[in-house]
Amino acid sequence: MSIKTDLQTFYDYEAHKYYQTRKKYRKEGERIIKLLTPLFQEAHQKKKTLNILEIWCGSGRFASLLAQHFATNYRYVGVDISQGLLAYAKKECPKGKFICEEMTEFVVRQKQEKFDIIIGTSSFQHIPSARERLFLMKHFYRLLNYDGLLVFTNWSLSQRFLKRYRKEVFGAFVKYVFRGGRGSPRDIFVPRTNKEKTFTRFYHLFSLKELKKLVISSGLTLEQLTYLDEKGTTTWNWKHARSSFLVAKKTPLVRE
Ligand SMILES: C[S@@+](CC[C@H](N)C(=O)[O-])C[C@H]1O[C@@H](n2cnc3c(N)ncnc32)[C@H](O)[C@@H]1O
Repeated sequence: MSIKTDLQTFYDYEAHKYYQTRKKYRKEGERIIKLLTPLFQEAHQKKKTLNILEIWCGSGRFASLLAQHFATNYRYVGVDISQGLLAYAKKECPKGKFICEEMTEFVVRQKQEKFDIIIGTSSFQHIPSARERLFLMKHFYRLLNYDGLLVFTNWSLSQRFLKRYRKEVFGAFVKYVFRGGRGSPRDIFVPRTNKEKTFTRFYHLFSLKELKKLVISSGLTLEQLTYLDEKGTTTWNWKHARSSFLVAKKTPLVRE
């Protein structure tokens, strides 16, 4: 099976458990709301509707967060490959529009400049190749309206991760060396065993430098890039990181 099919099978199989254990964000939820609030206020003043695309929306925790904080003036579309997770998302947020599709296939058929906000939490890390990650970033640029925001959180390599997945991290490094430097030592296959089965999920553990390069190559302007620790506090030390937090903007070349 391919990496993407493995991920889809895993998330479909674990959909119920995932939904139950991921109903709310940790601290990064507050950070996202704080970031989006001025955009909603401005849209409200201008009587404008914000178009929001959630890439890899899972069981709908971001859509729920939005609904809790902002009553109206937005249109939400969530896209995910897992039918199982989307069933929960639809139940949680009946007003949202949810599409079951593989992300790269979804973005290529979209018209340009459709969204004011594109957000992906704990997900971009699942895209298996550097080429596809850049391809997607360029499409996110294309789909954003001018002054639109791209917001990402992704898992990070940390002391905690290393402790838990030492064998897998070491295995990834050895594989990278034996392939003569092809791929990345940050491509990790994380095992998950339940009573009946063992699954492996692919993760690419981004460094901040790599994310910055991707943003610049896509044409977006970097607004915020940092690691967040267990408490959701900003840190530059990868050892204490739990995830990375990225905000990028599609800036107009010339202001009218
Ligand atoms: C860790 S979950 C995060 C879900 C959600 N963003 C959240 O924060 O709760 C990763 C999600 O990415 C989806 N996914 C992974 N690869 C995908 C792809 N190539 N196309 C569409 N969805 C994908 C999975 O089905 C899963 O819902």
